[in-house]
Amino acid sequence: MALWGGRFQGQASALFQLFNDSLPVDYRLFVQDVEGSIAWADAIASVGVLDGNECSRLKAALTELLEEVGEDETAIIGSGAEDIHSFVETKLIEKVGDLGKKLHTGRSRNDQVATDLKLWCKASGSLLETKLTAVIQALLALASRELDAVMPGYTHLQRAQPVTFGHWCLAYVEMLERDLSRLADALKRLNTCPLGSGALAGTAYAIDRHALAAALGFGGPTLNSLDSVSDRDHVVELCAAASLSMMHLSRLAEDLIFFNTGEAAFVELADNVTSGSSLMPQKKNPDALELIRGKTGRVYGNLVGILTTMKALPLAYNKDMQEDKEGLFDTIDSWGICLDMAALVLEGVKVNRDNTKQAAQAGYANATELADYLVAKGMPFREAHHVVGEVVLHAIAQGVALEDLPIAELQRFAAVIGEDVYPHLSLDECLAKRNVLGGTAINQVTAALAAKKQQY
Ligand code: ARG
Repeated sequence: MALWGGRFQGQASALFQLFNDSLPVDYRLFVQDVEGSIAWADAIASVGVLDGNECSRLKAALTELLEEVGEDETAIIGSGAEDIHSFVETKLIEKVGDLGKKLHTGRSRNDQVATDLKLWCKASGSLLETKLTAVIQALLALASRELDAVMPGYTHLQRAQPVTFGHWCLAYVEMLERDLSRLADALKRLNTCPLGSGALAGTAYAIDRHALAAALGFGGPTLNSLDSVSDRDHVVELCAAASLSMMHLSRLAEDLIFFNTGEAAFVELADNVTSGSSLMPQKKNPDALELIRGKTGRVYGNLVGILTTMKALPLAYNKDMQEDKEGLFDTIDSWGICLDMAALVLEGVKVNRDNTKQAAQAGYANATELADYLVAKGMPFREAHHVVGEVVLHAIAQGVALEDLPIAELQRFAAVIGEDVYPHLSLDECLAKRNVLGGTAINQVTAALAAKKQQY
């Protein structure tokens, strides 16, 4: 039964109903709708719309409905109701008869849906905070296991300078920490309660909106009724926070996919997050990581979708806004499962230290060290850079590493080079010299890891 038949003489077409109904999407707001309704019953009882007994009966019926539906919210879809608000109200009327029809006094589905959705965002947001923290913890655990494994660091996907694997892990910890703070910030801003704003102009009943907001666990009430029912900034902000975080997860995935290639063979991924090929028996594919990278696209799409839906909407509520939920739900689901999956993948990563070390040694990753050595001997850096470039060219032609060139050959490029150059060219030395805050020297990474472990 629709909630609004009185003014109509004709029937809605079946096609329109299918088009207009949002229950297949917003059934997920069931718990929040009941919660909001219980708080609303108290609010209108406080201004005499319901007596104490009526209020108790309504709340008991709502609680009973909550228990009946239980965990299986999908069962709601078959009811044929227009949306979750109609579903709850219809069920309430089935339970308590005409009394159920009193609950909607002073309330509109506009302030109702805005409230339900914010409650849902708060609950989902704190779940995501837990999931983000779990990935950070998985990265810290991996950093502890592989702290001093040496591998090549890259720029332009060219071997640049050696770094430790622990340092690589902690780079992603920094990113996910920022994601966490962006999420917390979005949650802080959406923590205001729209209920009591009515359809657009404010409810005509003198309820205490501060008390109502507090009863629902919000920090306070929203302050402008027009804005309250038409604001979807929180949907945009959550989609934006998710997009940025998915970008980080996607880069993490991409790094690991590359590390896992036959060509690099820096890491091995565990069997529980990889799949085989139906044709090629030798293959072990990084599907989990590829799906993380792949799902990033739909999360970005949802962000652009909601921004575009909202961009030309006049105040206040418009039905366009019903389109806010599907993308948000998909975003939160995708982000959540990608975080879970990232944590699981990280748990099983094994570093092949021989390969990472060999790769760090090859590719002239110690060329900067030779330049710094020349600088220490008094040569201006720009000149040293040029000289080392020539040495590298020569070494490439010989097919050897810098440290394998005999001293006589090195001296042909710069007379100041002495036997003491060789220790400077070792991997250990390359790392040890990056002993600055934020650098990859093992003692720096150890200290950085210890500090993060205090936090998480
Ligand atoms: N299902 C609607 C939505 O999600 C609820 C609000 C309906 N309001 C209205 N004025 N028709 O937006």
